[in-house]
This record gives sequence, structure tokens and C-alpha cells, in this order.
Amino acid sequence: MKSEEIRKLFLEFFEKRGHKIIPSSSLIPYDDPSVLLTTAGMQQFKKYFTREKDPNQDFGTQRTASIQKCFRTTDIEEVGDERHLTFFEMLGNFSFGPIGNDDPQNFGTDGYFKRSAIYWAYEFIKSLGLEIDYVTVFGGENDVPFDEKSYKIWQEIGFPENKILKGGREDNFWGPTGDEGPCGPTTEIYVDGLEIWNLVFNEYYQDKDGKLQKLQYPGVDTGMGLERLMKVLQKTPTIFETDLFMDLKNVLEKLIKHDDLRRERIVFDHLRGSVFLVADGLYPSNLERGYILRRILRRLTLNLKFLGIDLEKIDDLLKAVINKYSEFYPELKNFSKIKEVIFGEIRIFEKTLTAGLKEFNRLIKGNEDDQSLAEKTFFLYTSYGLPLEIAKELLRENQIKWSEISQQTFEELFKKHQQISRGNNK
Ligand code: GLY
Repeated sequence: MKSEEIRKLFLEFFEKRGHKIIPSSSLIPYDDPSVLLTTAGMQQFKKYFTREKDPNQDFGTQRTASIQKCFRTTDIEEVGDERHLTFFEMLGNFSFGPIGNDDPQNFGTDGYFKRSAIYWAYEFIKSLGLEIDYVTVFGGENDVPFDEKSYKIWQEIGFPENKILKGGREDNFWGPTGDEGPCGPTTEIYVDGLEIWNLVFNEYYQDKDGKLQKLQYPGVDTGMGLERLMKVLQKTPTIFETDLFMDLKNVLEKLIKHDDLRRERIVFDHLRGSVFLVADGLYPSNLERGYILRRILRRLTLNLKFLGIDLEKIDDLLKAVINKYSEFYPELKNFSKIKEVIFGEIRIFEKTLTAGLKEFNRLIKGNEDDQSLAEKTFFLYTSYGLPLEIAKELLRENQIKWSEISQQTFEELFKKHQQISRGNNK
């Protein structure tokens, strides 16, 4: 089964059970100042969990389902290994209180809770022919009690004790996104050693000081990563051999001159992510979310260059992403705009990079015990425009240590430089 079919099956499954299908919201949140980008499926529904908005009025039901575009920067440094991504798709079903008849046979439009959420997740996984290895539930920590209810439901389904593991706040409590919002204990489903589905029971609201208050009505917020689900369904060695990346991989492999799996994966992730960010209206800049885009485009340039790819060939790569995704995400259809923004940034940065790399090799490469690393990196920045994060990436690749002291020295030099330029401006 291909990813296109899985998206459809998921949405149909929940539509049949009284959920209204809601399109993915933009990666740029329109009314949530607590986050720079959309990081979870529940984000567009935050106000329904808190009842600032009424789901019945807006959706005609207390149940929704979506496939949400998400972008997370927390693991950006890990991208390149077998499993980390910045951009991913999240399949989710949601229920907003008050809870009605929480019976999995109830296909109505009232709110549901743990029983229906768990039974349906189990049923959907089974319908795909997958076997659950084990599940986890919240075991209790500090003021939040053990989630006995979820434990009992899994037992009732037939899971023995050794397949229902208990976790604490770190592993089995989710949220909030940003610095405040709905959150709660989770039960998580593992298939082939991978956590594929996270069922969150939003019973609390965490405020800016980290204090938990009971929500007026508890709700359900689930998230299943499509990439991981496709990996276990298609039994591929990693997520990068699933059909989600295969077209892009085939094009890339024809263009590369030097094999390097890590760099290829960075290209898969950053290229796909930047296409989606640009399609949602983001431009690279030096500020906040614009800087996130700039950063991934710079890393993309660096890795394309090291793979020996002619940047003029970016068209083929962009088209591979757009062709794969634009039927489900029509905002991707504007090829010329997407190309203009991405290629424009890449082309400018490539010039900086070529000059900066030459100097990097001359000044720094092959010298692990360099005492003046911060000064040299700073020189590369001021004289060649080579950004610190790219210099650090090059250092890492050359096994040259960037210490706390180097970081501090760099920052001091940077501050002095700023003061001097401000003085000059006056
Ligand atoms: N909101 C649930 C998740 O992101 O896993």
C-alpha cells in the first residue's frame, strides 16, 4: 500500500465514526503566537480543547480528523541519521468535550474519550495487517496519577501485563506546544520497535509557569507519524526507502557524484521541508521562522555541493517532491514561485559558501588543536559571510572540537563587532 492510500484509509475510517475531516492548517500558525511553526496536529484545534471555540458550531460534531503538515526544529542536528526529520505528516483524530457515550460502537458526533480512542487505534492498526509489539501508558508522577483506565482498556483488548509498559512524565505525558496549552497523559503504540501512534488524553492546561490545571472538559488528541507508519507497512530499512521519498531518491541518485548517505538524507529532509514552507508563504530571512527556512536552505546548499550536484539541476529535485505531494497538498502546485524562492536563496548562498570553504580549508582544516578557532571562524564570518552554524557543521564533519570557550569567544568578538559598526553608523 502506498502513502496516498493510507491517508485515504485513515480519513475514511474516522469519517465513518462521526469525525469531520479538516484540511491541514498552514505550517505558519495564524493565531498562535506561542510557536513559530506548526508542530502538531492539535495546534489548529487548541481553542476547541479550551472551549474558547465551539466544535459543534464550527464542525457540526465534536470529532475531527486531519493529516497535518508539521515542522519541528528540536532534532535538526540529528537529521541525516536513519529516523530524524524536520518536516513530517501527522495523522490525527481529535475529540472535544464534553464526553458523551464513550463506546467504540457509537459512530455519532458527541465527544469520546479513552475507550473509543484506544479501541479505534487498535482496530485501525489491525485493519492494516500490523501487529502491535507493546503499548505504554502513563504510570503516574508528581501530581498526575497513574492512568489506570487506559491500562485496563488495553488489558480488556487482550494485552498481557508485560506488553503494557508504564512511563513517567518524560515519556508518557505530551504537550503543551509552545509555552502554554492543553496537555495530558498518553498511551503509545509500538510496532516493529517504533513508536507509531501517540494517543494524548488532554485533561490539563499548562500555564506559562508550568502549572497544571484541570481542563473543563477532557479531550483526545492523537498523532501518528506517516513516515514511520509507511516504514513498518512497507518493511523498508529506514523511512527514506518508503514511497514518500522514493521518487526524490531516484532523481537524486542520478545526479550525485559522490555517495554519502548522511548528506542524501539531509537533502531529502531539507528539500521537502523547504518546499512545504515556501508553499505556505514563508520567505528566507534573518528573523524567527524566516531564519529557520534560511538555515535549512543553507544546509541544503552545503550538502548538495558536497554530493557534487549541479545546482542548476534543482528543478528535477523540486519536481520530484511537488509531483509526489501536490495532489494531496494543492498549495504545492505553484512550481515557479517555489523554485524562485528556493533557487534564489541557494544561488546566493552558494557563492558565499564557495569562497568561505576555500578559506576554511586553508585556515582551519586539518588542525584539530587550533587555539584560535573562534578568531578564525569569526574572520570567516566577517570577511566571507560564512555563517557560524555552517562553520560549526564543517568543524563537526572534520572532527574538530568547538568548545564552550570557542563559543564564548566568538560571541564576545561578535558583540564588539556590533558595537563598532553601530558607532560607525552614528
Ligand atoms: N499531539 C500528539 C503528538 O504530537 O504526538
